Amino acid sequence: MEPTKTAKIITIVGARPNFMKAAPIIAAIRNHNERLAMSPDLEAAGGSHVTLQNVLVHTGQHYDEAMSDRFFADLNIPKPDVHLGVGSDSHAAQTAEVMKRFEEVLLRERPDLVVVVGDVNSTLACALVAAKISFDANGTRPLIAHVEAGLRSFDRGMPEEINRILTDHVADFLFVTEESGLRNLREEGIPDGKVHFVGNTMIDSLLAFKEKADGSKILDKLSLRNRSGGHESTDSTARYALLTLHRPSNVDQSATFLNILEGLDELSNSCPVIFPAHPRTQKRIAEFGLERFFRSENGSPEGEQSRSAHADRRIRLVEPLGYLDFLCLMGHAAVVVTDSGGIQEETTCLGIPCVTVRENTERPATVKVGTNILAGTSKEGIRQATRQQLESKVSGAVPEAWDGKSAQRILDAICREIEKKRLL
Ligand code: UD1
Repeated sequence: MEPTKTAKIITIVGARPNFMKAAPIIAAIRNHNERLAMSPDLEAAGGSHVTLQNVLVHTGQHYDEAMSDRFFADLNIPKPDVHLGVGSDSHAAQTAEVMKRFEEVLLRERPDLVVVVGDVNSTLACALVAAKISFDANGTRPLIAHVEAGLRSFDRGMPEEINRILTDHVADFLFVTEESGLRNLREEGIPDGKVHFVGNTMIDSLLAFKEKADGSKILDKLSLRNRSGGHESTDSTARYALLTLHRPSNVDQSATFLNILEGLDELSNSCPVIFPAHPRTQKRIAEFGLERFFRSENGSPEGEQSRSAHADRRIRLVEPLGYLDFLCLMGHAAVVVTDSGGIQEETTCLGIPCVTVRENTERPATVKVGTNILAGTSKEGIRQATRQQLESKVSGAVPEAWDGKSAQRILDAICREIEKKRLL
């Protein structure tokens, strides 16, 4: 038997969409170590005898209970080993602050590998620091793994697009979720040897927690169950739509935001629309005076206007939800309308019709293979797309390798590199 070695990994999370992508990797590392500890002479992941020490770093880009802590609890993520406590600021200030604070952590921990996921500011900030750090006179630095590499919207006005491109170009391991990612990276000249097609770790989380999410009480809380004589087994779920909007390009300009809300009128006239609103969006609603479109669920005083005949046709504004509650709501929705990236993928996996309120998507597999359509942001585009998704029987397939085993594939690839002595 080979002597046991330890490789140190730092895994970064920062903002809400990171948590469900990182959770399966953290769990796979834990499983690998447990298998190795139980039977050291048997082969663990990738045939590796190396113990993996994971240091979980939370940058603090998202910090509200509803945007962060709740996800740790829902996804069984252990408490972060290091919390950088960065918080909100402009792109430059937030990115710079993560970089400054993460550099100190890197110099102290000296990991063999840094794993970053997704496309948020924390992803790029930490990848950049790891790419330029030097642990010794030979310029030794950790290798960088980017999970969800290769996605491109081809819209450089999106901060996430800049984060994706730059992170991919400093990464050593590029873990790709869909076929378009392979093509994009090849076209940008990234050597094939760095690129691994592994599927989607966010779908690993979805498949792992779907059953638990079915036990969520959110449908009752929002009165979305049709009671039929008190027999639980005969209860059915009301027909409703689920809405999320938070992209700066959609909610930061009052004319654009107003236009989108007006485009949702047909939908909110035909069924309840549940809208768990991101803090950014909530601020904009107040700033632009758009409250008339919403019915608040949070005990805010209802004026005379809200009690009008049309009050029930308004969009129902609720606080941001945890992972399990949101997954449950998505799974029972008649249609999901969103400008999120991840939700396009989750609805595809669940077979739920999705309308994306954007002109482009970096996740074309959700349109080509899955249940997603791009509506754009015009009123008519949104009306037409929601109508189409509600009326037609949507059928979609699940993209290749979105099978719940992506984190294990990532770990196998990392362990293979360790065995080849590229790491350690
Ligand atoms: C970030 C990501 C985006 C992702 C989104 C998911 C970048 C560039 N953007 O956008 O890709 O889809 O997260 O939510 O990284 N705020 C709070 N509490 C929080 C976090 C934020 O109130 O816990 C408010 C703050 O006022 C802040 C604003 O939301 O200024 C925006 O937060 P920020 O992290 O800058 O970007 P997001 O819009 O959340």
